[in-house]
Amino acid sequence: MTAPLRADLATVKVALGARSYDIVIGRGLVASLGARIAGLRPGARAAIVTDENVARYHLGAVEAALAAAGVASTRVIVPVGESSKSFRVFEQVCEAIVAARIERGDLVIALGGGVIGDLAGFAASVVRRGLDYVQVPTTLLAQVDSSVGGKTAINSGHGKNLIGAFHQPILVLADTAALDTLPVREFRAGYAEVVKYGLLGDAAFFAWLEANWRDVFAGGKSSGSFAREHAIAVSCRAKAAIVARDERETGERALLNLGHTFGHALEAACGFSDRLLHGEAVAAGIALAFAFSARQQLMPAAEAERAIRHLAEVGLPTGPKDIPGGLPSVDRLMDLIAQDKKVKRGMLTFILARGIGAAFVEIGVDQGQVRAFLSEKLAGR
Ligand SMILES: NC(=O)c1ccc[n+]([C@@H]2O[C@H](COP(=O)([O-])OP(=O)(O)OC[C@H]3O[C@@H](n4cnc5c(N)ncnc54)[C@H](O)[C@@H]3O)[C@@H](O)[C@H]2O)c1
Ligand SMILES: [Zn+2]
Repeated sequence: MTAPLRADLATVKVALGARSYDIVIGRGLVASLGARIAGLRPGARAAIVTDENVARYHLGAVEAALAAAGVASTRVIVPVGESSKSFRVFEQVCEAIVAARIERGDLVIALGGGVIGDLAGFAASVVRRGLDYVQVPTTLLAQVDSSVGGKTAINSGHGKNLIGAFHQPILVLADTAALDTLPVREFRAGYAEVVKYGLLGDAAFFAWLEANWRDVFAGGKSSGSFAREHAIAVSCRAKAAIVARDERETGERALLNLGHTFGHALEAACGFSDRLLHGEAVAAGIALAFAFSARQQLMPAAEAERAIRHLAEVGLPTGPKDIPGGLPSVDRLMDLIAQDKKVKRGMLTFILARGIGAAFVEIGVDQGQVRAFLSEKLAGR
């Protein structure tokens, strides 16, 4: 499906039996949040979990939409950033939800980026042994990735996302106008995950992105185009289809990790700091996965170069050479890759590709070949 949407509204269904839900995508949708919630759960009250940035820009509109539909709400505001995915903040959020007397039949609303979605979703999964929740994602990354699929988590001292649960939302409402306040660097980082869907399984969508990415970045505010909504809808449809077939990542869902094995190692090497955002690390990781696939003779070099060219064109990093500051040695990077959860019994599992739109899970990638490839990329800095 590659034709731009005719309307500025799209609904993607996540088909998971009794736990099925809609992802609704469109500009200005937040105004309908209260009515949608009142329709899904008549009489429900809501605790809105958000961060300080998002509260400043968008909390007022969300509260007004709820009030207009008679949905009573309280707010729980946490500090900005990954450090809020901690036991300490998690405890505060759980206690605040209990204190607000949100009970079975009521709702948690996750209003924010992936940090808030993961934190509030996990709190919803355990408070009173499980509350319903609604995702209102406000970053591009959250709209195309983290709000869909029901993975929720906080971080452990041993690593990211190690304490969590599968808990599906009852509704995802992606208001594309929320992205107008997002810093362009954050938008661009989220765009790496959009490109990922094209590269992993939809060559026509990738070609559409090559032609239309400027409209996706601009949004419909001035251009009147629905390119942004289209890109988000296609991305959500791709993720929803994979999640419906493999909710708990026993197989195919691993394809969504394209670029993430190299990416996580680079992200960890930069200390999960502002030096390299998650999506930026994923872009570099995708570029490396494509270059490595070409090196393994899985696809022509020109095919990998085309994928990498698009990432570079939008301003995303495509390898160690684009990452500012020092990077650790190849040995350290190999350690980080081996620590990644995509390692099974000492064998490296990578998502490789036979071409644009043709990714596959490769179990048992030779560590020596990865090491040689990476040291070359590091030497090229
Ligand atoms: N559960 C999953 O399946 C899944 C998938 C991918 C990523 N994640 C998680 O998502 C997190 C990253 O998400 P993220 O990139 O959205 O980060 P984030 O939630 O930290 O948001 C990025 C920044 O943008 C700000 N922000 C959010 N919305 C805004 C808006 N509309 N206007 C202005 N500023 C806004 C935030 O305050 C923050 O400073 C990571 O913790 C990652 O582990 C989870
Ligand atoms: Zn990712």
